[in-house]
Amino acid sequence: MKFFVDTADIAEITELAETGLLDGVTTNPSLVAKTGKDFVTTVKEICRIVKGPVSAEVTATDHAGMLAEGRKLAGIATNVAVKVPLTMDGLKTCKALSDDGIMVNVTLCFSPAQAILAAKAGAAFVSPFVGRLDDIGQDGMGLIADIVQIYNNYSDFQTEVLVASIRHPMHVVEAGKLGADVCTVPPAVLKALVKHPLTDKGLDAFLADWKKTGQSILGGT
Ligand code: E4P
Repeated sequence: MKFFVDTADIAEITELAETGLLDGVTTNPSLVAKTGKDFVTTVKEICRIVKGPVSAEVTATDHAGMLAEGRKLAGIATNVAVKVPLTMDGLKTCKALSDDGIMVNVTLCFSPAQAILAAKAGAAFVSPFVGRLDDIGQDGMGLIADIVQIYNNYSDFQTEVLVASIRHPMHVVEAGKLGADVCTVPPAVLKALVKHPLTDKGLDAFLADWKKTGQSILGGT
């Protein structure tokens, strides 16, 4: 499973990239707005820090506008994945950019039918939003199960399932059980994945016992 971090915050990305656990980054207009920084400069900087795919979203809603913005974003760095919304114009733009060899992430996917269209349009990634479905009482992980099953039925579907709108560690675990390709995880959830009270308790006990020996590994023979 690949791990992307879902943020446009350079400090957070730098910190997480240093762990060696990051395979990519996803941003969206809301995440960029939260930073208060210039979009193109931010994408350039993220692409310098993380070598894997960095999703940068278009904001035009018509095909011509999306295509022009997508080409500009793709020109920032070779690891930019242009993010387009799951609309007819977005799919048309996805097809055109994909045919040019540009990675496209089709975002705001909320149904298996939409995911089929993203694959047909040649998307590198489709982003189903599990948390937002859960929020309205629908089954976010059920959508992932459906998409994975459908994509596995067709060898010509090369689109990776990128689980988005992740809210907690169990979304990541469930995504893994279902065989999703990528999880894009908010920084706080990524940090929560490492936590277990028995790990902390066990480590405290080991260190207390070790202290009693009076030994030091680096100072020993
Ligand atoms: C995906 O790429 C989106 O940026 C993101 O996962 C949306 O998450 P949210 O529902 O928490 O805003």
